[in-house]
Amino acid sequence: MKLWGGRFSKETDALVEAFTASIAFDKRLYEEDIRGSMAHCRMLAACGIITREEADSILRGLEEIRGEIERGEMAFTAALEDIHMHIEKRLIDKIGPVGGKLHTARSRNDQVALDLHLYVRKEIKETIALIIALQETLLAVAEKHTDTIMPGYTHLQRAQPVTFAHHLLAYFWQLQRDKERFRDTYRRADWMPLGAGALAGTTFPINREMVREELGFARLYENSMDAVSDRDFILEFLANASILMMHLSRLSEDLILWNSQEFGFVTLDDAFTTGSSIMPQKKNPDVAELVRGKTGRVYGHLLGLLTVLKGLPLTYNKDLQEDKEGLFDTVDTVKSCLALYSAMLRTLEVDKEKMYQAVDGDLASATDLADYLVRKGLPFREAHAVVGRLVGKCVAEKRRLKELTVEELQAASPLFAADALDLLPPEACVAARTSRGGTAAAAVQEQLRKARALLEENR
Ligand code: ARG
Repeated sequence: MKLWGGRFSKETDALVEAFTASIAFDKRLYEEDIRGSMAHCRMLAACGIITREEADSILRGLEEIRGEIERGEMAFTAALEDIHMHIEKRLIDKIGPVGGKLHTARSRNDQVALDLHLYVRKEIKETIALIIALQETLLAVAEKHTDTIMPGYTHLQRAQPVTFAHHLLAYFWQLQRDKERFRDTYRRADWMPLGAGALAGTTFPINREMVREELGFARLYENSMDAVSDRDFILEFLANASILMMHLSRLSEDLILWNSQEFGFVTLDDAFTTGSSIMPQKKNPDVAELVRGKTGRVYGHLLGLLTVLKGLPLTYNKDLQEDKEGLFDTVDTVKSCLALYSAMLRTLEVDKEKMYQAVDGDLASATDLADYLVRKGLPFREAHAVVGRLVGKCVAEKRRLKELTVEELQAASPLFAADALDLLPPEACVAARTSRGGTAAAAVQEQLRKARALLEENR
């Protein structure tokens, strides 16, 4: 007999049972479900809706059930639909009909909403801790490479020299914004829905404030219909996760390029690469590729839930059960990607020589020559044209910019003097970019200091 079987005269079709059950995935919420039930039970007793003795018996039962599930002793079956029914049924089997009093003044609609709020709050905290760990790693690697010079790219064409520290720190700041977004979402996951009942509230003299207090929520939903319908906090989690994954995917793309024979800037550690079943020489950046690939499924979950929600009339509809698998998969995906990246970046081998060569034999100091002419009074647009002609000459003669003589520079513009040649080495280009947020050593040190301070604040 189903817990809701009263008005039915037929058994549920087996296909329907299998189709509508969520237990296969929502058993993950057992901890939250039991915590929520305990708070609800204590409140019912405090409000005189059930007796102290009844509450004690229910609480003991729930405690035991938690142990049973933790020890893997609970048998899950599609016939009992979801985690809420499993726990309630087990409670009644254990302590008798009094177990049936737990569901007074409650519906699975506000119950599942509560479970999800507790779950999302917990996972936001864990995700933020992993983001911080990855930020720490980026800082640690950056600190070792404040004078490692490499090409900075636009359009994947060598643009201007930067330090490897500066490039890595760009990812630090992306993660900083990700962290802030998750923190912001926490504020909206921090609303307590229980007491909404099925949709309209309850006839019992409950105390929602007491449940809020026990579970540490910041505030109550003020509208029972909103409380059981709202999945915004899950959407936000998925949107934040999508942006975070996009960042990790871009980092993956950089790593995959740098790790290629063509670039040769870095070597991923053997422990974080895999081989080929046919080509004995292969060492593939599979982890980075998979992080890039898994970004797609996280985007999919966001789009999936947005689509599930868009046509739903208020309030609860079974469609809402579709909110869980994408969320759970997103949590698992994001957490494993963050953990792997922390470990992988720490073992990254950096070929400073290769990075330097890529920028030394190059035209990347062209902007600095133009800036020189500007400091001598030439409008930037004209300076750009003068240096453009010098670059054209180098390309035609297959020479490097730094191989030009003072005479050749002066032939292009009489404003050039011998000191212009000092600007050409990559070190000089880097050292000259002293503006706030620039790649010069002092600016990067300042950036590192700010980044460190932000991480200290998190402690
Ligand atoms: N398993 C359901 C879900 O995840 C729980 C809520 C069920 N409520 C209902 N009225 N059928 O959405």
